[in-house]
Amino acid sequence: MPTTLGTLDQRLREKEMRATVARLGRKYLVVSGKGGVGKTTLAVNLAWLKAREGKRVGLLDVDLHGPDLVGALYLEDSKLGADERGLLVPHKVRDDVSLWTLSVQQLLDRGQEAVMWRGPRKMRAIIQFIGQTAWPELDYFFVDSPPGTGDETLTVVNNIPDIRALVVSTGQSMSVSDVAKALDCLKTCGTEVAGLVDNLSSLICPECGRETPLYGLGGTQELAASLGLECLASLPMDPAAAMAADRLRAPLAEAAPQSALAVKLKALASRL
Ligand SMILES: Nc1ncnc2c1ncn2[C@@H]1O[C@H](COP(=O)(O)OP(=O)(O)O)[C@@H](O)[C@H]1O
Ligand SMILES: [Mg+2]
Repeated sequence: MPTTLGTLDQRLREKEMRATVARLGRKYLVVSGKGGVGKTTLAVNLAWLKAREGKRVGLLDVDLHGPDLVGALYLEDSKLGADERGLLVPHKVRDDVSLWTLSVQQLLDRGQEAVMWRGPRKMRAIIQFIGQTAWPELDYFFVDSPPGTGDETLTVVNNIPDIRALVVSTGQSMSVSDVAKALDCLKTCGTEVAGLVDNLSSLICPECGRETPLYGLGGTQELAASLGLECLASLPMDPAAAMAADRLRAPLAEAAPQSALAVKLKALASRL
């Protein structure tokens, strides 16, 4: 095929993408077929815990229509800049924590502005967020995704071939059947699954601390076993830890480090 300016530009972008991806360290996509199961909570806390271990961590939000990363890290006023080469510069969360974030929310003029992009626009944005961004040299890179197997997830796995999936589900059958579809998509894409995470497996009463099974049907474990995958953790719903996070404006692993949920998150982070 003759080299045109278009193909040259494309090849340069692919080279740029490969060079950036090689700098990102171990890469995890936090994914699920289902919404509201704890993807953002998991991505934020794992990234935070790895950064607290002294690792250099990047956290990318590709949930373009429902970006929650900024809210989950209490970074409402954070904005992204560009460097002299025109690359986006991720936002460093705190001076004492080596965690850099990038979310479309940090590019919007108004907090409530809706992102109403269709396929190609979304793909271009995500390619820019990965490849045309001045990510520093990292040890870990976490990607928080929207529910399902649409453009956002596909663009990530197509451009980061060695990313591994952390697949979040609850034990409820409605979650399990959607998550099975996400796992089918990952298999088709050739994306390795690091394991499943069972969230909201029980409820820890904020009044008395007693733990009560919630959707305790073992659905996530059964799904994992049926596919020869590991269920890496079962995480309780811990409203007190979530409230401490809001009160202290920090991820719950930082705000309530003694909570059963934070302890389990820490054990999970240490396995990554
Ligand atoms: N284990 C948990 N304990 C307490 N609250 C949780 C837990 N997991 C998720 N949540 C809360 O549930 C809501 C949905 O979680 P979120 O992480 O936004 O899900 P997703 O990203 O999958 O849509 C959030 O308000 C979050 O704080
Ligand atoms: Mg989310």
